[in-house]
Amino acid sequence: MLLDRRQRPLRSLRLSVTDRCNLRCQYCMPEANYTWVPRPELLSFEELGRLVDRFIAVGVRKVRLTGGEPLLRNGLPRLVEALAAKPLDELALTTNGVLLRDFAQPLFDAGLRQLTVSLDTLSRSTFVRLARRDALSRVLEGLEAAAGVGFTQLKLDTVVVRGVNDHELDALLDFAARLGAELRFIEYMDVGGATQWDPAHVVPRAELLSRLAASRGAPHPLPLRGSAPAERFVLPDGQTFGIVASTTQPFCGACDRARVSADGQLFTCLYTSQSTDLRALLRSPLTDEALEARLASVWTARLDRGAEARAALGIRGPLADAAQLKAAPQLEMHRRGG
Ligand code: GTP
Ligand code: 5AD
Ligand code: SF4
Repeated sequence: MLLDRRQRPLRSLRLSVTDRCNLRCQYCMPEANYTWVPRPELLSFEELGRLVDRFIAVGVRKVRLTGGEPLLRNGLPRLVEALAAKPLDELALTTNGVLLRDFAQPLFDAGLRQLTVSLDTLSRSTFVRLARRDALSRVLEGLEAAAGVGFTQLKLDTVVVRGVNDHELDALLDFAARLGAELRFIEYMDVGGATQWDPAHVVPRAELLSRLAASRGAPHPLPLRGSAPAERFVLPDGQTFGIVASTTQPFCGACDRARVSADGQLFTCLYTSQSTDLRALLRSPLTDEALEARLASVWTARLDRGAEARAALGIRGPLADAAQLKAAPQLEMHRRGG
């Protein structure tokens, strides 16, 4: 087992398959225009498959496909089918749900079982304000389709932004219960494209818990968190939910994730600007063994604890402003996977 310099194993890989997105969530992509990675610079399915094999050889047991919006990648079910045949414990996908109505069945048929859909609001006008596209009804259709084709391990991710959607906690929980999905409240993070981030807009874990205690009765923590970002709780009526407290209670100590951006850069932390160019290595004559050795050397040198370092700052603002992101687009969340 590979351990980094803080004794954390490499177990999980978040693989971004495209940097393109069909929404413009304010906390992620606040600009009007983005320059996309040119197609030849995206890893091909063959390269992605080979890369996943090499990650499996050095210890990875879980792959999560992300974007941008992963369903925008042409032929995605074909990639899912190839990855589902590999010796992994978990294969998961995070999507904004806009295209899910048409992809739910093909993804299920390709062998996907774990699906996470971002859902920040149930109000059309709030959706338009947050995501700057009028697509809530398509997302809801997509969720219905996913539940209908038999996705039982369905999760909903809600980034809570004060003054925008924080009055919808109960409505979102009710919606998740009806759908048979588990909702996770995510603290608004100062990462990537969150150039308008402000601590006043974060609803901290502690406040989420006290608000839910007031409306639903005290949530009780569930054990067995392991390396998962979400802490899970159960409400008095039996409904479970999660909280991802990356901002006020970071969990870097248990982080077993590597991430690869759509253009093949390996990042060992959500917050780092340092990366290793795997695309260049994949397109060189390097053998599989040499590639594995490179992955191992990057992981064993790893010291990152980005979210904890940010939290230790005390006074903090956005990680990067718009000009910095233009100069260093690899910092963008939509490029490296949320
Ligand atoms: P599961 O445990 O399989 O549900 O995976 P997950 O929770 O990592 O998946 P998901 O894509 O739903 O991630 C949920 C949210 O957790 C993300 O949108 C981020 O806000 C946050 N998150 C994911 N990975 C990291 C990470 O490496 N560091 C930090 N600080 N936050 C992360
Ligand atoms: N804060 C928290 N989560 C974010 N995501 C993107 N940007 C942020 C941010 N600033 C996550 C959300 C979204 C996923 C794709 O990326 O969870 O659902
Ligand atoms: Fe929103 Fe995800 Fe698209 Fe970012 S990548 S704009 S969070 S849907």
